[in-house]
Amino acid sequence: EEPPAEHAVPQAGDPSLVLLRRVGAVDPASLDDYRAAGGYAALREAVRLGPAGVIREVLEAGLVGRGGAAFPTGRKWDATARQPDHPHYLVCNADESEPGTFKDRVVMEGDPYALVEAMTIAGYATGCRKGYLYIRGEYPRAIRRMTHAIAVARSRGLLGDDVMGQGFAFDIEIRRGAGAYICGEETAIFNSIEGYRGEPRTKPPFPVEKGLFGKPTVVNNVETLVNVLPILTGGAAAYAATGTAGSTGTKLFCVSGTVARPGVYEVPFGATLRELLALAGGATGTLRAVLLGGAAGGFVRPDELDVPLTFEGTRAAGTVLGSGVVLVLDDSVDLARILLRIAEFFRDESCGQCVPCRVGTVRQEEALHRLRRRPSDGDLALLREVGRAMRDASICGLGQTAWNAVESAIDRLGVFSPSEAS
Ligand code: NAI
Ligand code: SF4
Repeated sequence: EEPPAEHAVPQAGDPSLVLLRRVGAVDPASLDDYRAAGGYAALREAVRLGPAGVIREVLEAGLVGRGGAAFPTGRKWDATARQPDHPHYLVCNADESEPGTFKDRVVMEGDPYALVEAMTIAGYATGCRKGYLYIRGEYPRAIRRMTHAIAVARSRGLLGDDVMGQGFAFDIEIRRGAGAYICGEETAIFNSIEGYRGEPRTKPPFPVEKGLFGKPTVVNNVETLVNVLPILTGGAAAYAATGTAGSTGTKLFCVSGTVARPGVYEVPFGATLRELLALAGGATGTLRAVLLGGAAGGFVRPDELDVPLTFEGTRAAGTVLGSGVVLVLDDSVDLARILLRIAEFFRDESCGQCVPCRVGTVRQEEALHRLRRRPSDGDLALLREVGRAMRDASICGLGQTAWNAVESAIDRLGVFSPSEAS
């Protein structure tokens, strides 16, 4: 088993942090520690505001999803709360499987009660009595610590039929993933929880209307949920004062690769990639490129390090922020090998349900193998054609994004161009 969360947080214990403030500073097993460090003030505030008031705060704060897609959280909550069909369900997506993403593990291992409290608030606001916490099976320590925190919260009346004696019911059940990347896709999670193969469903209908067991369902990422705590304790306006108009608050970044101090870093949205890399001690050799957004993301060149780390800023720079992957690659790294590894990953993890992705990911990998041996215009053209077909015709995000990193490396870094090959 890997070392515990606090080892992955070089800033651990820094009181100026918002989301990582307690990681490494409190005993993750102790509810008393959590309360002494401000825990459960947000739930008390939520009850004072009432469900509609909580949703209003989350909307005004401008919180957007941290799983990668940046959909406005308040809109999701509002849409679910309004559904007349009952019961409503909450699903916390803790299947964190994007290569290079490990921030949710750090939150669950280092501050598990924060997620319990945040899920309780989400359930209260959207009318859910039941929340599922879907954690990837490869996170045994996170599963243990979350299981313990849920049991303690229940024994102290912070979960159950009458939460905090306030007359509403909410409880959490943990479900473990079993190693499939596709089970992080929100509708594949529903299938997995319902006992079926983990295959995505077509959207729409969106989960807010028809989700788990066909009922209105809110699906939120771990990091998204814990942001609700500072929104309620400090107020929406104070929260929105950090970051930019389009990306409010702070963001957890997973810095890995050929970098001096890898780990999870928390910085306000709008900090530049150059500033984040400086915090992490910089690249170990001469910087060649940085992959943002993970396997489904895009590359940034060394001359582009002033890109602001916001959803809108990275989009304008031709890449994506995604779930916060910052994979640093110095000139010792074989880029073609990295692309091939990404292609192998998608081929392996495709659920096989639809043809463009099932066949396209295989063709993409084959073409990359050939290109590594001998660059050819024919194979580059084939890659583009297959990539377009996957993007346009795949059912879910896996197939739609499986060509992103390869396209970015060819167009932005010149990989497989004659000069790169020589
Ligand atoms: P999406 O854009 O289809 O949806 C984002 C969220 O907004 C979903 O919850 C969806 O139900 C909701 N939504 C969208 N339109 C809506 C509407 N009109 N009404 C109500 N709800 C609506 O994106 P998707 O496929 O859910 O996620 C893709 C992202 O996931 C990518 O950005 C990728 O970076 C990220 N990802 C993250 C991973 C991780 O480990 N954190 C793993 C794999 C992908
Ligand atoms: Fe499955 Fe790929 Fe189709 Fe998604 S795009 S449903 S992973 S085959």
